[in-house]
Amino acid sequence: MATDTLPRAASIIGAAVPRIDGPLKTSGKARYAVDHNFPGLAHAVAVQATIGKGKIRNFDSSAAERMPGVLLVLHHGKIDSVYRFYPHEADGTINEGRPPFADENIYYWGQFVAAVVAETLEQAKAAANAIKVEYDAETPDVNPDLRDFQGPRPESWLRGNPDQALASAPVAIDETYVTPVETHNPMEMHGTVAVWVGDDVTLYECTQGVVNHRTVMSEVLGVPRENVRVISRFIGSGFGGKLFPWPQSAIAASAAKTLNRPVKISVDRRMMFSNTGHRPLTQQRIRLGATQDGKLTAIRHDFFTQTSQLDDFVEHCGEQTPFLYSCPNLVVTTGMVRRNVGAPAPMRGPGAVPGLFALESAMDELAIKLKMDPVELRLKNDAERDEGRNLPFSSRHLKECYTTGAEKIGWKNRTPQPASMRRNGKVIGWGVAGASWSAARIPCNASVELCPNGRVCVRCATQDIGTGTYTIFAQVVHAQTGVPLDRIDVFLGDSSLPDGPTSGGSMATSAVLPATTTAVNSAVTRLLHIAAVVPNSPFHGKKPDELAMTDGMVHLKESTPQVVGVSINSGGRQLTPNGVPFEEILKAADLGSIVASGKTNPSFDDPKAKQYSLHSYGCHFAEVEWEPDIARLRVSRIFSIFDCGRIINKGAGTNQILGAAVMGLGMALFEDTIHDQRTGQPINNNFADYIVPVCADLPDLDVTFLDYPDLIVNEYGARGIGEIGMAGVAPAIASAVYHATGVRVRNLPIRIEDLLKSDIHEA
Ligand code: MOS
Repeated sequence: MATDTLPRAASIIGAAVPRIDGPLKTSGKARYAVDHNFPGLAHAVAVQATIGKGKIRNFDSSAAERMPGVLLVLHHGKIDSVYRFYPHEADGTINEGRPPFADENIYYWGQFVAAVVAETLEQAKAAANAIKVEYDAETPDVNPDLRDFQGPRPESWLRGNPDQALASAPVAIDETYVTPVETHNPMEMHGTVAVWVGDDVTLYECTQGVVNHRTVMSEVLGVPRENVRVISRFIGSGFGGKLFPWPQSAIAASAAKTLNRPVKISVDRRMMFSNTGHRPLTQQRIRLGATQDGKLTAIRHDFFTQTSQLDDFVEHCGEQTPFLYSCPNLVVTTGMVRRNVGAPAPMRGPGAVPGLFALESAMDELAIKLKMDPVELRLKNDAERDEGRNLPFSSRHLKECYTTGAEKIGWKNRTPQPASMRRNGKVIGWGVAGASWSAARIPCNASVELCPNGRVCVRCATQDIGTGTYTIFAQVVHAQTGVPLDRIDVFLGDSSLPDGPTSGGSMATSAVLPATTTAVNSAVTRLLHIAAVVPNSPFHGKKPDELAMTDGMVHLKESTPQVVGVSINSGGRQLTPNGVPFEEILKAADLGSIVASGKTNPSFDDPKAKQYSLHSYGCHFAEVEWEPDIARLRVSRIFSIFDCGRIINKGAGTNQILGAAVMGLGMALFEDTIHDQRTGQPINNNFADYIVPVCADLPDLDVTFLDYPDLIVNEYGARGIGEIGMAGVAPAIASAVYHATGVRVRNLPIRIEDLLKSDIHEA
């Protein structure tokens, strides 16, 4: 591709291009998993255990089976062709490894014990209610205090001698921070429609990874991968709860096979609080040692993370601890504590988000103890290289995040004493915290097709979970060809397309960019070659390297076509004497299309990338307003400054940080899945009792990207942005709350009851 043709179209990289799938969603034309209907479709409804631990003593579905429309009842001992899946990390991951109805044991409240399939949803629901299950119940263990744990507590990242350094530290902090169980609540609930045709099964799913889902379900159902197709064209987000399959998928597939009819199953909102993952409870003890002038000498991060009875899920709270600050003595220890809860799952920024609540809260407490400004403390201890891995950073501008944010909020005017700042009759508190998240380039395949109707198709078995992935593909194709966006068709969310990445770990964008760029460039190269060699082509006899493609047209490099009034979103191309639309070249060559593919080589196989520590960084400055006389707390402003490499779509990128800041606000002030100690039931398993932020809770949000390209990660310099924005929000708010009220809350969420302890009684 000639560089002299790039600037005009290439400027789309970084632009705030509106989502190309937006009109389909806003007009209701986008079909989500359970929107799919087929002739003969039957409906499945799952039955949940009503105890948190024990055994099924008696299962009686006789009444249910006689009810109108009932076709099938699945339960322990009666489910066909469902096998156990053993995770093989690189190639397939499942959330709940136990096959549905595998035994008579109950491991957590809400566990599926049966599913009823009927002609209509109403019939299936009625019959599900008529299933009678008797249990031998035991008291479940859902104790939220994890400190009784006696099992192994493996050490990681040990350097120096942290215990000795802590013992001799002139200034030290030793506090324990708790983050509760948070439940993923994407707008779209989980669901599956399973359709068998002969030996082939198609699953209409809501998954963040169609390829992983296909791999896992092929083993769960015992059919070859080639016979399993997973379709997830639109997803109402996932936040990590849809990364890997849950049992409803196998239930639908098994029932559909047995009945030889399409089967639909939905997991309702209430079930989502027990059956489709959560961010587990964490309890983290942080010990910091420092010199009198604020240089860190020791960090000890000992954490417990809760998991289920059957799945070894660890919330890696210590992942950021080894490299965020420069510190000679450090250790992280992990304790995985089993409780009678469903399988946890990654949730937006797993590990980092609760981990940084603890570490960054402790840094704020250290700053106060040192009588030092918390921004200054962080600048003073910023790491020059990754001291955990002993590697240089590929690109780290965290200091600039802090100085930019400080400038924006006017930090130099902050007075450190609690409740010392007032505005409009309210007490104002300001707090700050840092954020980090890893970056990588994971494998991806993509194909690009130049079509005879003047359109370009791009295909990849990744998916858009609402983040803007469709649009990123179109931007890359436009950047390299100049074909207007409304002539670019992006096909994602189907496992029959070239294997693409899971939308997870904030790694989809950095994975798809190289594959798509390679594919489109190689399609253009072939087009120019064909234009030069085909007798009927207007460019016959030219050399391919004398030709270029601009605005979707092939032309002689020496004279770029002058296209008047072209816009990326219109078909406003105009033929000039020099430019020939690419489809005319296909016609001249009698070609049905030109297809080319591209591949992203993963950073973990790249000798150069392996020499660097790859991470994104950022920070939040939060402001709270506190009205002590009525005990009202509001988050009024959040400034978020992020260093995530080059931003490919400023609109979608900003949306990610905004949404994550709101989710972080929910973590700080509202979200807490409470398990009844007697039954193990999540008692606030509904939107009336599980509080998430609504518009009235929202502060003024302000997002800044530093936009330094990280060329170690890919040729665009783009890292990921999906998760990092949630890290650092809760500790920034907790620190702002301390600054306003004098109350340090170490146990999230921050409640009014906590703030009633404040000595500040009037504003
Ligand atoms: Mo993210 S927790 O990998 O969806």
